[in-house]
Amino acid sequence: MKIMLDKDSSEVLRTLDFLRMPAFIVDTKWTILSCNDRVGAVFEYGRAEVIGRNLEKFISLDSIFRERGNAGFSSLADAVREGESTALRAFCFRKNGSPLALPIAVIPNRQHRPDRMIIVVRDAPGQEAAPADASLSPDKAYQGELINELSSIINSSLSIGTIFRMVVSELRKIIDYSRASLLLYNDKDNNLTIFALDTEMKTVMKKGVKAPIAGTSAGWVVRNNKPWISYDLNDTAFPLDRKLLAEGIRSTISIPLFHDRMLGVFNFDSTEPSQYTEKDLEILLPVAKHIAVALENALLFEEISKEKKEWERTFDAITDMVWIEDGRQKVIRANHALMGRTGFSKAEINGKLCKELLEKIGITVTGTCLCSETLSCKRPSFQELKSAGNSIFHFWAYPLIDEENRLYAIVHYLKDVTAQKRIEQQLIRTDKLASLGTLVAGIAHEINNPLGIIAGYSEALIDRAGEKTLRGIKEFEDFPEYLRTIHSEIFRCKGILKSLLEFARPSGGTFREIDINELIKEVLLLLKHRTAKLQHTIELNLDRDVSKIYADAGSLRQLLMNLLLNAIYFTPVGGRISIKTEPDNGAPESRFNGCSHRVRLSLTDTGTGIPEDLIGKVFDPFFTTKPVGEGTGLGLTISHKIIEEHGGAIDVESTPGKGATFIITLPSITCRE
Ligand SMILES: Nc1ncnc2c1ncn2[C@@H]1O[C@H](COP(=O)(O)OP(=O)(O)OP(=O)(O)O)[C@@H](O)[C@H]1O
Ligand SMILES: [Mg+2]
Repeated sequence: MKIMLDKDSSEVLRTLDFLRMPAFIVDTKWTILSCNDRVGAVFEYGRAEVIGRNLEKFISLDSIFRERGNAGFSSLADAVREGESTALRAFCFRKNGSPLALPIAVIPNRQHRPDRMIIVVRDAPGQEAAPADASLSPDKAYQGELINELSSIINSSLSIGTIFRMVVSELRKIIDYSRASLLLYNDKDNNLTIFALDTEMKTVMKKGVKAPIAGTSAGWVVRNNKPWISYDLNDTAFPLDRKLLAEGIRSTISIPLFHDRMLGVFNFDSTEPSQYTEKDLEILLPVAKHIAVALENALLFEEISKEKKEWERTFDAITDMVWIEDGRQKVIRANHALMGRTGFSKAEINGKLCKELLEKIGITVTGTCLCSETLSCKRPSFQELKSAGNSIFHFWAYPLIDEENRLYAIVHYLKDVTAQKRIEQQLIRTDKLASLGTLVAGIAHEINNPLGIIAGYSEALIDRAGEKTLRGIKEFEDFPEYLRTIHSEIFRCKGILKSLLEFARPSGGTFREIDINELIKEVLLLLKHRTAKLQHTIELNLDRDVSKIYADAGSLRQLLMNLLLNAIYFTPVGGRISIKTEPDNGAPESRFNGCSHRVRLSLTDTGTGIPEDLIGKVFDPFFTTKPVGEGTGLGLTISHKIIEEHGGAIDVESTPGKGATFIITLPSITCRE
């Protein structure tokens, strides 16, 4: 396995080797990409035995995860991705199998390779100080090395807490303290806040506790940007420092943390008097410089992280699907709604093509991801899309343009508007039918009377044409047939008028409590003869516990009849017609007058189905695909009116060639209570 290691990472490994700390570089799947020579010495494996294997073989990730799990991260990788370096204790396994619990530092290689992490094992056996440079005194050499080590730790982490923990555990080797603390300076309130603490003693000091500037040595340090040593607190000039005496502290050393501005104070406290001298300043002052730089970075990073989290939370709060793609149409960020709908996890979704996402939702994409206009013209674009499951989506693409007018990413917004579209269509239908009703009521009456007269005369003429005297005349030969056609067509017109009047008439039915299942069985009985003739299988799936409805039985019978007659007509011999009833306890909807207890009736057939371009028209008056003379195209128009009078909704779904389903939703009787 040939692994390319970037220059920056190998540099880090070399430094860690010098510091005698075993270190690994791993990818996000914990595969070891490289390690330094110290790994061999501590873990007793050769380099070749380590590279390419999973870190788990050498360090128990499980113990790491468990520890991080408590901190609210689902995995360590997540924690690291969030930009946190982390230090914890984990079991390390040597070749002979013996485990060692050692502190581990996990450091994201954030700057150069965010997909890689450095795992450093600290305090490993044999991790004694590096050999001293001959030209330096042992003390100085160690001090230089220590500062090197500290700066490498500091530079590789952006979490103040982690920096503090690592730095004090290193400094503990050369400075005695009973308590170490890091105080952050807040210039707005002019006070100090305890940010991190390492203590062996019982103390009232806690993270978050505030300390004033006036009257404390730490405050003096902040104000003067100079270190301070209190040799004995019994003689202190700072009245508030005396409080420390009560906790048993006798001497302290405080170092300012300054980088372009005052950031805070680094404190060491001891229960011994005169514990600290100027010599300690030699070590602490250079370290403080590094800490101040890291602290400044960490504070900035924290601020950015806070904003980033806020932004992410907003992004995830959107219930429609939102994602961002790079210029090559690969996902770089996706919100929860999109992950939920596609079933992809955060790790899986990043890097996916927009096309793959849409296909997972059931939307077929040809060519690029439907936003070529956005890509080429750098303009927002919009499209309405349909999924295989007949859901309708609104799809927006917004270009993200940099200062040089280059498109570097695209924001996508995908909204499922199926329900909204249905309601819209129903409203349009209702509107259309309402105007039709008014029109029909006026005209139908007017036409009905002359039609009656024509029908009467045509009947009289048929009788006359049958008389002997006329029958013998050759020129009158065709008359009886013509007259019969006129007569039957008049009756067809009267039939249409009757339906129209029925549609236009004010409801006026008798509303009462009705068991919809019983009504279905009743209507089926009336149609038994027809279904048997066409050898249709009738499948009933009636929920016995479905609630009663408040309805006009006569109208509902007519509605069921219309739907069943259509199903029978459009389903070839031997097909199947299924009727299902079930409760529909969805959210309250205004179209059901805010009622959330409803009954749903679905009628499915295995017939011809309805072509996509015609499905929006089936409720229109006079829309029919039946041959002339066979249908008025008013059956569904009247059915729609009936459902509307009952405060319900009617919908249709169809796969052309496979069948159609009519879905009726009616408010249950409980909505009246
Ligand atoms: N179950 C179905 N399968 C396929 N197409 C259907 C079905 N139900 C209705 N349609 C379509 O809707 C059209 C309108 O139906 P509607 O019941 O309003 O009128 P019709 O059945 O054509 O005429 P009428 O009801 O007066 O006999 C039908 O002509 C047909 O094209
Ligand atoms: Mg019909």
